[in-house]
Amino acid sequence: MAEKSAPGVYLDAASTEPLHPNARSMLLTALDNAWADPARLYGTARGTRMLLDRSREMVAMVIGARPDEVSFTSSGTQAVHLAVLGGLRARRRVGRHLVVSAVEHSSVLHAAEAHERDGGEVAIVGVDLMGRVDPAEFAAALRPDTALACLQSANHEVGTVQPVEEVARACRDAGVPLFVDAAQSLGRMEVPGEWSLLAGSAHKWGGPAGVGVLVVRKGTRWRSPLPDDEREGRRVPGFENVPSIAAAAWSLNAFRVEMHEDAERVSALVDHIRTEVPRIVPDVEVVGDPVWRLPHLVTFSCLYVEGEALLTELDRLGFAVSSGSSCTADTLRPSHVLEAMGVITHGNVRVSLPRGVVSADVDGFLAVLPEAVARLRRAALTDVETGRRSRP
Ligand SMILES: Cc1ncc(COP(=O)(O)O)c(C=O)c1O
Repeated sequence: MAEKSAPGVYLDAASTEPLHPNARSMLLTALDNAWADPARLYGTARGTRMLLDRSREMVAMVIGARPDEVSFTSSGTQAVHLAVLGGLRARRRVGRHLVVSAVEHSSVLHAAEAHERDGGEVAIVGVDLMGRVDPAEFAAALRPDTALACLQSANHEVGTVQPVEEVARACRDAGVPLFVDAAQSLGRMEVPGEWSLLAGSAHKWGGPAGVGVLVVRKGTRWRSPLPDDEREGRRVPGFENVPSIAAAAWSLNAFRVEMHEDAERVSALVDHIRTEVPRIVPDVEVVGDPVWRLPHLVTFSCLYVEGEALLTELDRLGFAVSSGSSCTADTLRPSHVLEAMGVITHGNVRVSLPRGVVSADVDGFLAVLPEAVARLRRAALTDVETGRRSRP
């Protein structure tokens, strides 16, 4: 049997948002009622089809797209892979040059690596100390043979919002399609600008895991990198998980309204963490843009502490938070995002506030943090003094 989740305070919404009540009730209803094959013609199948169509309309409406531009995938990662590789494939005749920012999610960077292994060329645009790309620098990386450009809407590790609108304009002027990985911001912020392709992930907005969204704007050339299949507008192979898709759509609709109403309060809690942490913990750097940021996410780095040890200690004290490269907890390499920003990469903690967070959760976290850091620093010092290494 699965281990029951421990009581405590969950502050890791950027990894995954707890299931929204609307998602849960829709999922349970649809598991019973929407199991038939939506591609068939009998009554039960038509019912499933109608729910799938309705879900697509709801998601399209939130994104500001047409329903026929939206396809459901089996994860945000799959949506990213299809967007990048399909966008590149469709423009092979134009060239094989791909432009990405240095702080993209690993799913984008892994697709770029696959493109490189296949003989393509990748240009990486750096970021400033806040983790933001410079639109002029991004524009300068575009070439006549650039097939695709990629820029996230907001960074998953430090929360910095990227200048998508300006970059989309530069891409349009250069005739290059722009792919926006909006996994961290969908449901929390609008995605501005004339982008061509977009990806999202349902478990980031309180939907179930295992549902992603791929949007291909009308007029954008896109060719599947996978074997042909007629599902999802021929963009995603395989029988759709309609109950989870419906749960994702219903939660997105509710989540978007709730996040809009609650954004100011949540953002003030993040501001409180941003000012308090350097005041109560010595030798700390709060990273990411203080203004152009996601409302619910803040990251800081503590000198002389190992991030992993700090997360374990905070977990012991009842607080679930994560760290740079936190989508891949088994990669203990320093975060490529923090490295690209040129900030401290160690002792890194990412706090991301879920729906319904209360100020007592944040106060509780701030109450235990200084002693947790001090304890680890004392232990590290003792290890140095006694000549022991704190980790094998
Ligand atoms: C910016 C970004 N893109 C893509 C993904 C991948 O989404 P999924 O977890 O649904 O595969 C994530 C997940 O953390 C993300 O933060």
